[in-house]
Amino acid sequence: MGFIVAIDGPSGAGKGTITSKIAEKFNLTYIDTGATYRCVTLELLQKNIQLNDIEGIKKVLNEIKIEFENIPLKVAKKIEKNNKSISKVKLNQKDVNNNENPSLSRNINTNNNTFSRNRVYLNGKDVTERIRQKDVNENVSKVSHILEVRMAMVNLQRIMAEGKDAILEGRDIATNVFPNANVKIYLDASVEERVRRRIAQNKEKHIEMSEEEVKKNIETRDYNDKTSKIGPLVRADDAIYIDSSDLTINQVVNKISKIVKTEYDIFNTEKNAYIMTKETPIKKIRRSFLKHLWEFLYRIVYRVKINKEYKYNDNEAYVICANHLSTMDALGILVTNKRKIQFVAKMELFHNKILFNWAHVFDIIPVRRNSADINSVKLCLKALKNNAIVGIFPEGMRHGLEKNATIKNGAALLAYKANVKVIPVGIKSSFKPFTKVEYNYGKPIDVREFKTEDPNWLDNASKHIMDEIIRLSGNKN
Ligand code: DC
Repeated sequence: MGFIVAIDGPSGAGKGTITSKIAEKFNLTYIDTGATYRCVTLELLQKNIQLNDIEGIKKVLNEIKIEFENIPLKVAKKIEKNNKSISKVKLNQKDVNNNENPSLSRNINTNNNTFSRNRVYLNGKDVTERIRQKDVNENVSKVSHILEVRMAMVNLQRIMAEGKDAILEGRDIATNVFPNANVKIYLDASVEERVRRRIAQNKEKHIEMSEEEVKKNIETRDYNDKTSKIGPLVRADDAIYIDSSDLTINQVVNKISKIVKTEYDIFNTEKNAYIMTKETPIKKIRRSFLKHLWEFLYRIVYRVKINKEYKYNDNEAYVICANHLSTMDALGILVTNKRKIQFVAKMELFHNKILFNWAHVFDIIPVRRNSADINSVKLCLKALKNNAIVGIFPEGMRHGLEKNATIKNGAALLAYKANVKVIPVGIKSSFKPFTKVEYNYGKPIDVREFKTEDPNWLDNASKHIMDEIIRLSGNKN
């Protein structure tokens, strides 16, 4: 999945303007989800289909083709001003859409990458301005609350963003369309401020409406949006709340930009963390240099004692599994072994530039905690296939051997999948400077020996690994 920014909030909070600017600033594909509901509304109006005619609506949803075009803000503004035909703009643009289902969405980027603002096409026809007209305005809320419409549009919105770095604005992006979005913003403004903005907008467009009417209109829409049973406007628990009532557009853009930049940097760093660098002579020299330097220092700070119950095969792949007492324990295993050990380390480590660099020298494998990290598993399997040793500290062992800790099956599963044995290691130390650190290596465990018809057989294998680590670390359970 790409990088996703979700901007939710009530109508009139300034989502459109702000989202366009952020999209342009960070080169994100801009998706105005409200426009998808507007297109369906227009199509139903054009085909004269009643809102209770679910079969008719389903047919429309099956056949409808909604396409977005991302164009530069400057061009968008020009078009709005001069009402020029979009076809002139399209001549200079390159279709870069790679979607599997091109009939559903299309995003066009310009070469200079300063794109934003959606032009909207319904069945091939430019309806950007048409979907903002009165008849659509009056019906879109009802249409957006029809379950079938909602399901189809949410699906479409996901396809439009697939594989891209995108910013989506709407009502339910953070809660429903992309609940795992990288950035979640809830953009709000007081009713009074939104009324003021709408009146100014109406003036520009020569629309006559009393203040009273505008206020009522906004309040009714808020009520409908917030109380809807389907896709209601609610603030996601983890969304950042921004009240734009007393802020200028630039102030809001700056505020959101800061958040987006931080998260985008993390996203890109994490993406790069999974890319193992090539083994070059320089990398080997750096690894050897760092390893010797660290081993030298390590042995000054600690009295290292290594006991091995078994003579391991030098060319065999293994999974090493140890108890985790301190951040220094993995380092000890790393520097005191002749063979390279590819440890699995939590992703947060890679956020630090220096550690990121070192991690790549030692081919450390990143893992995202609290989720099934497929990329991490793939890297582990690849390393084992290449006869490497992969080091894992099972969770629940942070401070020695926690009582009743849940035994995670990661190490056993990996060993099973790669058909390799697990070396249990018990570490014994207070890790106070100038004290003894004892590494006790046990006999390799073949998890396959635990395989039975019982679907939970892996639990038994994991428990055995854990028991061995407990024994080797001199702890009693
Ligand atoms: O943002 P807008 O005014 O263009 O939205 C049009 C309608 O669509 C509005 O009534 C709210 C609804 N909508 C929705 O229900 N969910 C979204 N993600 C976006 C818009």
